[in-house]
Amino acid sequence: MPALWKRVARGLGQSFDCAVAERSRLRVSLSLWLPTRVGMRARSDIELIERACADWDADAHQDALDDLQRAAQRLLPVLPQIPLLPWQLRRRMNKIEAAICCLARQPGFFPQMFHGVALLGDGSFQRMDADEARHLSGRGLLAGEDIHALRKIGTRLHRQTAAPLRIVEIGSAAGGGSTRIVGDMVKRHGGTLYSVDPWPGLMHRVFLANLQIFDLEGVVVPLRGTSAEAAARFADGSLDGVFLDGSHIYEDVLADIDAYLPKIRKGGILFGHDLYDVPSRFDRGELLGIAAVNNAVAGHRDGRGEVERVDVHPGVILAVQDRFGDDIEHFPDSAVWAKQL
Ligand SMILES: C[S@@+](CC[C@H](N)C(=O)[O-])C[C@H]1O[C@@H](n2cnc3c(N)ncnc32)[C@H](O)[C@@H]1O
Repeated sequence: MPALWKRVARGLGQSFDCAVAERSRLRVSLSLWLPTRVGMRARSDIELIERACADWDADAHQDALDDLQRAAQRLLPVLPQIPLLPWQLRRRMNKIEAAICCLARQPGFFPQMFHGVALLGDGSFQRMDADEARHLSGRGLLAGEDIHALRKIGTRLHRQTAAPLRIVEIGSAAGGGSTRIVGDMVKRHGGTLYSVDPWPGLMHRVFLANLQIFDLEGVVVPLRGTSAEAAARFADGSLDGVFLDGSHIYEDVLADIDAYLPKIRKGGILFGHDLYDVPSRFDRGELLGIAAVNNAVAGHRDGRGEVERVDVHPGVILAVQDRFGDDIEHFPDSAVWAKQL
């Protein structure tokens, strides 16, 4: 069967499976998979958390936080079994995994991260500004393909050495994105992730809560300050990897590349976010124009030479162009680039 038809057939099969699973199979599979008493309870716990994830009415749910926390604490030990669960159930659990961790370990941050509603000191709630809410969200700002790319880079570093890993992340924001992905990888391998960010205002508290929520307190060392301030802490050749996602201003990205490249050992990896294709596919003049008006939409030529419009950070693309040209690896469909030393 030609590859395209195979994909269509697989896609149709999957949507059929999903539809059936939504109606019935999913509802029983956890009960079948786990001992009956645990399975029945887990089923209702999952449904409770799913309902709270889909819809949050601050007034109605304020009292529900205790129940939600208890449900999440019961489900937390089930999470390590996710790879063993049937795929329909795994998908369903994956969707609420971050919420389970958040509710079990830090329920106060659940409305904030999943619904953009901040819990105030007096116990009342306040809707947050949309941009702030997006930054604080439990999943961070990375797209699915970015996560995939970071995991691939992690696997490479993991295979290169048996020694504990030393990785620096510049720009962590609330810690739900790259900190969590790279932190999980470092936790599995052994080692330390140094997270560098000035963390203005509320962001610092949320970052620390996220370390607790994602069980990364023993793995991540937060270094509050700018990348320039933190650079002096690391000796030349002492790091396995550095991830750049801090300031996106051209001069700052150049300075980050220049400050951290010598800190990486031979064979280690400098990697970063916000590069949507190899640098030469972007028009330098257009990027300079965009940088001047601080806008963020540009065209780049894809592999077939067709121009696509994308949201870009011109400072990042221009800085990578100027230091490495196209001599970097770009991960398809993601905004992640890497330079192996
Ligand atoms: C795009 S966000 C990072 C997103 C994060 N990596 C994620 O995956 O969710 C950029 C972060 O860089 C931080 N930042 C800005 N300038 C910085 C600098 N000079 N040094 C370190 N961090 C910086 C900001 O405070 C912000 O939290």
